[in-house]
Amino acid sequence: MKKICVGLLGFGTVGSGTAKILIENRDVIEARLGATLELKWIGDLDIETDRGVSVDKKVLTTDVNQVISDPEVDIVVELVGGYEPAKTFILQAIENGKHVVTANKALLASYGDEIFSAASDKGVEVGFEASVCGGIPLIRSMKEGLIANRIQGFFGILNGTANYILTKMTNEGSPFSEVLKEAQALGYAEADPTFDVEGVDAAHKLTILLSIAYGVPIDFDAVYTEGISKITPLDIMFIKEFGYRIKLLAISKDDGHAIEARVHPTLIPENSLLANVNEAYNALYITGDAVGNVMLYGPGAGMMPTGSAVVSDLVDIGRNVLTGAVGRVPCMGYQPSNVKPRLIKSPEDLKAKYYFRFSAHDRPGVLSRISGILGKHEISIKSVHQKGRDLVGAVPIVMITHEAKGAAVHLALSEIDELDVVKDKTVLIRIEDWI
Ligand code: HSE
Repeated sequence: MKKICVGLLGFGTVGSGTAKILIENRDVIEARLGATLELKWIGDLDIETDRGVSVDKKVLTTDVNQVISDPEVDIVVELVGGYEPAKTFILQAIENGKHVVTANKALLASYGDEIFSAASDKGVEVGFEASVCGGIPLIRSMKEGLIANRIQGFFGILNGTANYILTKMTNEGSPFSEVLKEAQALGYAEADPTFDVEGVDAAHKLTILLSIAYGVPIDFDAVYTEGISKITPLDIMFIKEFGYRIKLLAISKDDGHAIEARVHPTLIPENSLLANVNEAYNALYITGDAVGNVMLYGPGAGMMPTGSAVVSDLVDIGRNVLTGAVGRVPCMGYQPSNVKPRLIKSPEDLKAKYYFRFSAHDRPGVLSRISGILGKHEISIKSVHQKGRDLVGAVPIVMITHEAKGAAVHLALSEIDELDVVKDKTVLIRIEDWI
């Protein structure tokens, strides 16, 4: 049987899962590919720790060059993570004529264009199915399964840590900091959770999806990003009373003129499909002009799910190696000459419905002052709710608005927050109620 040699860089969680799948599912992979995926090298700084995978000790090395320069290696898998030295390893592997598979979304969201263009110049492939939502076959679905469609928009729960925290806050009413500590103890959140809870990880993934959906160059800075760390149990209570659930959503819409690209906490109807994606699960709800609505759901992280995505790329590239095909499916799904920038809407230009929670003194005339300012900025109120009665301190006043422009909301809230009857900064959460 023909042999395709794989060199793995990084023997951590995903590296171990990948190796385990290559060993334990060898028969089914061979039956489908018609060749063996042979794990020729596993490179890591630590080759002593037992990873629970029965690999031959001979394949373990601490020498990166052994992995990326071995003439027998066809595909290099980068599972080191971070920007450097991962980027250098990938570019060197490409330079050496190796195909590359990576799960590194942060790297692709910043340097994807450079990496894809180096690969195209060298006539090699870059597989990155594992970079967005681990085990869910999103990239291949968008690049190939939905190829007939103009993508009109998509909504994603792309970060499992944030979804786990919001699910617990919703079900248990606990504060963010408490749930985060619990999540860290259970291994659902990293010691430094910034990328996950501040929306950066989801924005990296959205950046990659935007390119594949619309054929635009990678541009992480164009994505508006807001995290979940300021969400309070009080807001969760109101959100539930209004019949919504809160999710950290990655949102994109294409109106034919400009694209929306944003990650922020979002209220969605409690009975919608996405509202019921709970715990650490991920999902992507995509609207194509031909297919209509499609939702993909599954585990977005973890040793075996992410390993499953890595191996799918190995088999895909393996098929090309066997048939001598290169660039059959372009990295971003579009021919490089057709990858062109599009106008991306700024938060000020975005139109959305809003949840506002004002913290105001409970005195006659307060509501009319707040609603007067909203009216002046053409922000129309759909419903108002006030809880409690407190003549000395402040009470929460919650409003749901009709669609309003970001710039108008910005101006109105700055004026409202200056009022002597308003105690704290107003809480603002966007609503998508058509999902
Ligand atoms: N840290 C990510 C998450 C998993 O919490 O979803 C890897 O992309």
